[in-house]
Amino acid sequence: EAGALWGGRFEGGPSPELARLSKSTHFDWALAHYDLAGSRAHARALARAGYLDDDELTGMLAAIDELEARVSSGAFVAAESDEDVHSALERGLVEIAGASLGGKLRAGRSRNDQIATFVRMYLRDHSAIVAGLVRGLATAIADQAAAHLDVVMPGRTHLQHAQPVLLAHHLLAHAWPLVRDLDRLRDLDRRLDESPYGSGALAGSTLGLDAEFVAHELGFSNAVDNSIDGTAARDLVAEFAFVAAQIGIDVSRFAEEIIVWNTREFGFVTLHDSWSTGSSIMPQKKNPDIAELARGKSGRLIGNLTGLLATLKALPLAYNRDLQEDKEPVFDSVETLEVLLPAFTGMVATTTFHGERMRELAPQGFSLATDIAEWLVKHGVPFRDAHEISGECVRLAEGRGIELDELSDEDFASVSPHLTPAVREVLTVDGSVATRDGRGGTAPVRVAEQLERLRVALGD
Ligand code: ARG
Repeated sequence: EAGALWGGRFEGGPSPELARLSKSTHFDWALAHYDLAGSRAHARALARAGYLDDDELTGMLAAIDELEARVSSGAFVAAESDEDVHSALERGLVEIAGASLGGKLRAGRSRNDQIATFVRMYLRDHSAIVAGLVRGLATAIADQAAAHLDVVMPGRTHLQHAQPVLLAHHLLAHAWPLVRDLDRLRDLDRRLDESPYGSGALAGSTLGLDAEFVAHELGFSNAVDNSIDGTAARDLVAEFAFVAAQIGIDVSRFAEEIIVWNTREFGFVTLHDSWSTGSSIMPQKKNPDIAELARGKSGRLIGNLTGLLATLKALPLAYNRDLQEDKEPVFDSVETLEVLLPAFTGMVATTTFHGERMRELAPQGFSLATDIAEWLVKHGVPFRDAHEISGECVRLAEGRGIELDELSDEDFASVSPHLTPAVREVLTVDGSVATRDGRGGTAPVRVAEQLERLRVALGD
């Protein structure tokens, strides 16, 4: 079999059916440049251990450079007979360097330690790209918050009006989870920072190659401590898939709110024309497709994680071919986020918020009832009683179809002698938010501070 990495002990080549099943070049080509970087480092390690002389090393590195140029230009591509990216690139190297030199490079390495290393390199690079995009989204949210520090909206629990909050406070509540996702990516990188190269098939190599040297050449701080673990573990791939899924979920929660806010019933936002879509039949339609795709793609990201975990469950050590199934899900998670996040960020950055509509709704649904209860507490009434008194005000107002601030002084006095006309000082949404001024509260001064801390956390 031309170019195959194995064959000596076989009487015939693989059946077409096996070859078709086994083939991975259509997706692992994404690792070609990591494979070539690994080959350069490995060639140097072989030379340092005395398996390549100076001329051979020079020739080998030149051949790898030439192969890399051909890969980049598209002059070298996977052939039908190539099983995976590693087989293809060795075929390419032998074509350029000849079999006697090109054939020396495989000594002391296995596709098992190669693939484990390259997936880590891929994840490190793409974590950094994804982190940049997540930071961009969090910054767009922070910018919208900064532009709307005076807008009050109905804060909700159970999707019911609960207490008035600043729109900025609510928006920033979507930014902090992204800050934690960034922290997760940074933390994951610390664990990814160990190279499995040198683990060989599973047990290491007899050739005395310097795994730490290779690790440093490839940008890792260290080599792994256990060659079996190095080739068999995929927990870090799963961890990346989790962080990707969590980012998707965090975005989906904002997406869902934008979809709801964009309805005629809510009327809280208008999306920019360039960041929304139309209908093929209904001329009037303007749809929040970016937010809907964000919501939908979060399901896909969860699927990638759970599929990968299912592959890993009860898989015996060390390498098993099942592990080839790790790549498509994480590649898909990376591509999904790299397409989704810029679109979602653009939508957020260009959304118009209707502050008057939000302010109008903010006090409705008796959302100031807690303010009455806490005002009573400040005037010496035990909270259990205050809760009852405020609840009676709600019952009175609800029965008459009016809001709390529409009750008369006499109404209040009839509910409780503690309810003097001074209670009206907390019966405004501005009064309500201004007095929630503990750390983390929705008072404008606190939200402004919070915004500063968020900017610091984002490194702005
Ligand atoms: N393509 C494989 C993977 O993605 C690596 C090759 C290991 N193949 C093998 N027969 N040991 O995991």
